[in-house]
Amino acid sequence: MSTFQSLSGFRDFLPEDCAFRDRLFALWRESARRFGFDPYDGPPLEPLELYKKKSGEEIVKQLYNFIDKGNREVALRPEMTPTLARMAGAAQRAYKKPLKWFSIPQLFRYERAQRGRLREHFQWNCDIIGEPGLGAEAELLALMVDAFRAMGLGAAEVEIRVSDRHFWKDYLARHSVPEDRHYDFFQAIDKVGRDPDEVVRGKLGALADDVFRIIREGGSSPRLEELLGLVAAYGIQDFIRIDLGIVRGLAYYTGVVFEAHDRKGEFRAIAGGGRYDDLLKNIGGVDLPALGFGMGDVVITEILKAKGRLGPEPDPRHVHLIIPDEAHRAAALEVATLLRAGGYRVDVPLAAAKVGRQFEAAQDRGAHHAIVVDGAWSTQRTVGLKDLATRAQVSVRLRVEEGRVTGWEQV
Ligand code: HAM
Repeated sequence: MSTFQSLSGFRDFLPEDCAFRDRLFALWRESARRFGFDPYDGPPLEPLELYKKKSGEEIVKQLYNFIDKGNREVALRPEMTPTLARMAGAAQRAYKKPLKWFSIPQLFRYERAQRGRLREHFQWNCDIIGEPGLGAEAELLALMVDAFRAMGLGAAEVEIRVSDRHFWKDYLARHSVPEDRHYDFFQAIDKVGRDPDEVVRGKLGALADDVFRIIREGGSSPRLEELLGLVAAYGIQDFIRIDLGIVRGLAYYTGVVFEAHDRKGEFRAIAGGGRYDDLLKNIGGVDLPALGFGMGDVVITEILKAKGRLGPEPDPRHVHLIIPDEAHRAAALEVATLLRAGGYRVDVPLAAAKVGRQFEAAQDRGAHHAIVVDGAWSTQRTVGLKDLATRAQVSVRLRVEEGRVTGWEQV
């Protein structure tokens, strides 16, 4: 037993976990590419000030912050959006608008570690900066659905609940609730259906019954109806449901907000986002409208694993060399080098071993083929090729072009 354990809420990624993560990230990147989003990245450590007030109390309570050796107050990033607002604000002049940027940062939140919520996670962030119209919301929703479809998740399995903070702002203004109480109201509305009604009622006061009714009767707004029209043109309407009960915890959202969930409600939120038209002004010093979403790796990984999706795929270019006699090791290493130059994945036995053991190792490693290198390589440029699934072995001549293997022919 090892003396040390990882900190609570932090993960070790063993090779199979890393391989899964790589497949997920590749899928995210591919969806972003299909929608014309460009990658960006930023520092994992930021000035503490970046998160104070702008993100809202909840996330500030969860900050991993400390004073560094230069006496600066710093924090590990709990989310990417403030960094993006800072970066885009500083660099936007060099780019045509709208900016469509994506990133997959590792984020840190001192949360109570539980299923679906850890103290570090990776989050796919896709944001559009410089577009005020609802066309941007529709495009982002379509991008999220594109990723779900690529994961094999259909509208029967996941849905995106869409709401509008404008609706609630107008509502609170009509009921003469002062601006400085709006954030607390949003927090309370966000809890409808999640916390017991009595608890939420206490926070909503006299408006409680009316708010419950609006959410439960499936209220909507003209802007949300317009958005529904736009998403229909993308053919993703089955994934979308208006739900005014979604308000989102983060303080900076100003307009349409949305959250993705599994339909059965077995897991926590898969993704969340919305419009934050004032954040660039507050953080980045330029007044640009913006919106985006973040999808964490933790919940989606739980869902995909439960459904057996995104599993490992056999690599037809994975070969394992067999060296029956150490006298041919140099020849085998030459073959390995030619194969690797040709893009093959090649395992080589690193020390002398019985041939049976070497074949077992090839099987255990999941190689597609074993390649037996003996004296025939030096004399005839041929090797033995064994298909590890069918166990058929044939003699083949490797086709070598410009120092790399490009294929083989049976002899
Ligand atoms: P968020 O709702 O705080 O939004 O996080 C987005 C997603 O990240 C969540 O739905 C969840 O999947 C995942 N997530 C968040 N916290 C954790 C955690 N502790 N452990 C595991 N997964 C987690 C934001 O962070 C916004 N900045 C997203 C955004 C981008 N809005 C606009 N642009």
